[in-house]
Amino acid sequence: MAAKKLIYPAADRNKDPILSVLKRYIQRGTDQTFLEISSGSGQHVAHFAPHFPQVTFYPSEYEPRLLESIAAHAHGYSNIKDPIRIDVTANYRLWGNSIFKPNSLEYIYNANMMHISPYQCTIGLFSNAGQLLKPNGLLITYGPYAFDGQITPQSNVNFDKSLRSQDPSWGLRDVRDLKKLAEENDIKLIEIVDMPANNKTLIWRKSISKN
Ligand SMILES: C[S@@+](CC[C@H](N)C(=O)[O-])C[C@H]1O[C@@H](n2cnc3c(N)ncnc32)[C@H](O)[C@@H]1O
Repeated sequence: MAAKKLIYPAADRNKDPILSVLKRYIQRGTDQTFLEISSGSGQHVAHFAPHFPQVTFYPSEYEPRLLESIAAHAHGYSNIKDPIRIDVTANYRLWGNSIFKPNSLEYIYNANMMHISPYQCTIGLFSNAGQLLKPNGLLITYGPYAFDGQITPQSNVNFDKSLRSQDPSWGLRDVRDLKKLAEENDIKLIEIVDMPANNKTLIWRKSISKN
């Protein structure tokens, strides 16, 4: 029996705008590796992978129940690996039997996790990215953000309130705080791309100094 493909309406709406940004940043070179943290339903990875045959995609999820949906979306794409269970708060050496080596990845991608999880997940994302990315490797994050203590427009203010009422450890992250966290991990913000529905794609690059 076919495994169940979950469909998130938001992922259907944002997958093409995000793909357009990825097309500007993913290089043509062969043998590149793209790790997705918190793949959710698996819609994003299955949408992106056919456009970049030179890249091997590693989807992952914290929720074991979502792995089946990710595998179902990925089915038939030879450049998508089986989904791995990853808790981003844990050190990468504990992920998938130490499948990833330090300074080995060209791209790490994460959509819509930072504001819907405790801040510990954001810390884990930047800390592991700082260790796993190759020098000049990219961390690409997507979602709604605060800037210098301000959230705009009102719909994002309301969204932030509703997240915090569900769980006080959730909420939109401030790019000012993220930049500090990134710098502690030798990562710099290089571009903020405006996206539909008041979201942003943030492009972060690991410096060449970290070994
Ligand atoms: C709103 S969903 C986003 C899913 C998908 N990236 C998307 O944009 O449709 C947030 C995801 O964060 C994941 N998450 C929560 N805690 C996590 C953790 N400790 N490590 C990795 N992912 C986590 C959840 O399992 C969930 O799939």
